[in-house]
Amino acid sequence: MKTYLVTGAAGFIGANYLKYILAKHEDIRVVVLDALTYAGNLGTIVADLDNERCFFVKGDICDRQLADQLFAEYRFDYVVNFAAESHVDRSIENPQLFLITNILGTQNLLDAARRAWVTGKDAQGYPTWQKGVRFHQVSTDEVYGSLGEEGYFTETTPLCPHSPYSASKTSADMVVMAYHDTYKMPVTITRCSNNYGPYHFPEKLIPLIIKNIVEGKKLPVYGDGSNVRDWLYVEDHCKAIDLVVRKGTKGEVYNVGGHNEKTNLEIVKLTIATIRRLLTEKPEYREVLKHKQKEDRGEISIDWIDENLITFVKDRLGHDQRYAIDPTKISSELGWSPETRFEEGIVKTIEWYLNNQIWVEEVTSGDYQKYYERMYGKK
Ligand code: NAD
Ligand code: TYD
Repeated sequence: MKTYLVTGAAGFIGANYLKYILAKHEDIRVVVLDALTYAGNLGTIVADLDNERCFFVKGDICDRQLADQLFAEYRFDYVVNFAAESHVDRSIENPQLFLITNILGTQNLLDAARRAWVTGKDAQGYPTWQKGVRFHQVSTDEVYGSLGEEGYFTETTPLCPHSPYSASKTSADMVVMAYHDTYKMPVTITRCSNNYGPYHFPEKLIPLIIKNIVEGKKLPVYGDGSNVRDWLYVEDHCKAIDLVVRKGTKGEVYNVGGHNEKTNLEIVKLTIATIRRLLTEKPEYREVLKHKQKEDRGEISIDWIDENLITFVKDRLGHDQRYAIDPTKISSELGWSPETRFEEGIVKTIEWYLNNQIWVEEVTSGDYQKYYERMYGKK
């Protein structure tokens, strides 16, 4: 039986990963470590926490004593580090928090793992490691910086981050690799493109657009909407991480992406059209448009759901123009390929949000409103 420490699993991708591995592998035990920041929501994973196979610890990845205590108590085989401050716009507001959590937090976990997993020294003085252990760092394609119209990020593309967020993730990757090169620590890194799917916090593009349509608000597009992101359904990312943790080669980086490049404007237009189609085909979903109920006596109208909702707003500072991943390495070495086409994934995602309005209300009940007003004004 393998025991995992999964950090940040009350957030978007970590929660999806937790659910995925618990369903896929019977013979595992998972400890979730999460500080429950504004982006973490215990409600997302509460049903998974059975205190037999899956345990929850509220805490900070920067806490040395806690990390040591957890390693001593649970004897982890794998660490999968999702915990991070993850939103570029917030990193522009408060860079230091990103550096503390994303770099020092990662380094703290690496050190705790080193203290727990080293068994001795080899003839050259390198540490020897407990068999079968692995530290996996969940990273991002944003470490490579920005592309022009052509080309793709491969694992050998030079690291060239621009935002405080991506600079902190790049630094963390370099520290992870330093532990591999210096101590021969068994590590792997995955660098994934933009994810979308259930449990995505509505400060990121796709869930924010869905939430705003449901609330009849304007849809803010930064700059001219021409920036390109390479979107991947979150479960495909989780499958890739699971493969790399179990079968990836130590000391290697794997890019994860599904060749699904779209401009932001295309994403917003597609989301509008898909919601409109779903509300037409399944009128029962119109219930979510409560704010329209007072205005319309009979059937709730959806005529207003169109591209006129789009509003072009001030561009993000240092906005990366284009991200696009070349996933050849993970496909050829580990047999990974994305399984969910975007047209299918976006429908699943929108339906999940329409069916889970209580979750949306729950996660946006705290600081969200203030953040929204700071970013977009009181519209
Ligand atoms: P998220 O913001 O939804 O979740 C982050 C989680 O980390 C939250 O549960 C939060 O409470 C927790 N956390 C934050 N600071 C912590 C700390 N100091 N100690 C313990 N827990 C802490 O993020 P996400 O979108 O799920 O991203 C997860 C990881 O994947 C991040 O490392 C991110 O850089 C990476 N990533 C994200 C994407 C994407 O599209 N969202 C793409 C590639 C890589
Ligand atoms: P985001 O979801 O924040 O992810 P990232 O910045 O990590 O790629 O943003 C995706 C793209 O959408 C990015 O180019 C910025 C843009 N964007 C908007 O145009 N409007 C918005 O309200 C948000 C949140 C993002």
